[in-house]
Amino acid sequence: MATMARCLLRTGQSTAKFVRKECLNNARSLSSLAELPDTHKILQKSCRDFADNELVPIAGKLDKEHTFPKDVIKKMGDLGLMSVDVSVDEGGTGLDYLAYAIAMEEISRGCASTGCIMSVNNSLYLGPVNKWANPAQKEVFQEPFLHGDRVGCFALSEPGNGSDAGAASTTARLDGDSWVLNGTKAWITNGYEAEATVVFATTDKSLKHKGISAFLVPKPSPGLSLGKKEDKLGIKATSTCNLIFEDCRIPRENLLGEPGFGFKIAMQTLDAGRIGIAGQGLGIAQAAFECAIEYSQKRMAFGTPISKMQTIQSKLADMALSIESSRLIMYKAAFLKDAGKPFSKEAAMAKLAASEAATFCSHQAIQILGGMGYVTDMPAERHYRDARITEIYEGTSEIQKFVIAGSLLKEYHVS
Ligand code: CAA
Repeated sequence: MATMARCLLRTGQSTAKFVRKECLNNARSLSSLAELPDTHKILQKSCRDFADNELVPIAGKLDKEHTFPKDVIKKMGDLGLMSVDVSVDEGGTGLDYLAYAIAMEEISRGCASTGCIMSVNNSLYLGPVNKWANPAQKEVFQEPFLHGDRVGCFALSEPGNGSDAGAASTTARLDGDSWVLNGTKAWITNGYEAEATVVFATTDKSLKHKGISAFLVPKPSPGLSLGKKEDKLGIKATSTCNLIFEDCRIPRENLLGEPGFGFKIAMQTLDAGRIGIAGQGLGIAQAAFECAIEYSQKRMAFGTPISKMQTIQSKLADMALSIESSRLIMYKAAFLKDAGKPFSKEAAMAKLAASEAATFCSHQAIQILGGMGYVTDMPAERHYRDARITEIYEGTSEIQKFVIAGSLLKEYHVS
């Protein structure tokens, strides 16, 4: 990897400041969406090289053996990829969200499972910790999670409510100097490996979403146990499980942010996280596209490479269009976030478009590869399986449409 790229990924304060300044300048101009700043191009190239050298060769094996890539996560931590937008002053990499989105795409292009682990640590765990934890909480719950030595997770969904996040039924009761948590959280990515979690629980169900608070829970903790490891369609190198709280006692000072502010913390965290999932979807889509376009130029049928056939060209064109258009929306969402402007609608659009691009492109890739797309000798079938989750977690496609329509109806409100 080039020295400059290494420097960019490491925690060079001046470089990070330069990137931040350049990104803010670029956010002022829509034309910058057409081409990334040089600094981000270098980051993109270095992440792409890392993915080609370290992830592509092992992604199939990780998937087959359901192995959490501990060593790879540590290497990514050393490169600054596990705390991309945490400031240098706080020990993070100090880059912006555009950089994070780009890195997410490139890492997920190499291995979607690794991209998923990266996204949960960066946006779902460190995101709220970095924004709402106090300095004492950060010492325990942020600092050890910045460099790939430990990962965190995010516990919002429950067996009885996923999309309706405000209906949380896990309870938190204050008892002397402790909070006592009871309930079950479901679909927790990194659940087995995480050494801490942000948990959302209600202190008063009658207040609905306004009764929800966020808590920092170390793992392991007495009273916290893990459900079975889910056997999933894709992203098989990640663990997903229930977190079961039975009189789980945590110190009173582990409340994150203000009491009753938990739902807003969850929503704001997911707004940002959806940009990362857009990156993941794009990485999968791009990997499927590259696999298909390469194969189509080698595979002969009717005396010609199949890439010369109009039906195949039409598929390649549609795939490239879906990738390019969703990438532009993702860049726009990240630019807006980095510029401190509202970005919920654009993040939802980016996630929706990129996750659908992932499903579409991985489907088309198998169609182009035919039988070779259906067997594990080629990565196309893995891309197809990995793509599917991007339309589900961090809000289904239906929820993204709900968020987008909600913003539109406010923008175009007729009194
Ligand atoms: N930012 C800040 N505040 C927000 C907000 C946002 N993006 N969206 C809503 N709010 C606030 C509203 O302003 C409102 O506040 P007030 O009560 O003060 O007025 C409050 O939240 C309630 O808003 P709504 O009435 O709009 O909320 P709702 O109950 O209709 O739900 C929803 C909105 C968008 C459907 C939300 O529940 C949602 O995003 N659901 C999907 C949840 C999700 O993505 N789950 C995935 C879990 S993570 C995961 O996948 C696991 C993993 O490990 C990867």
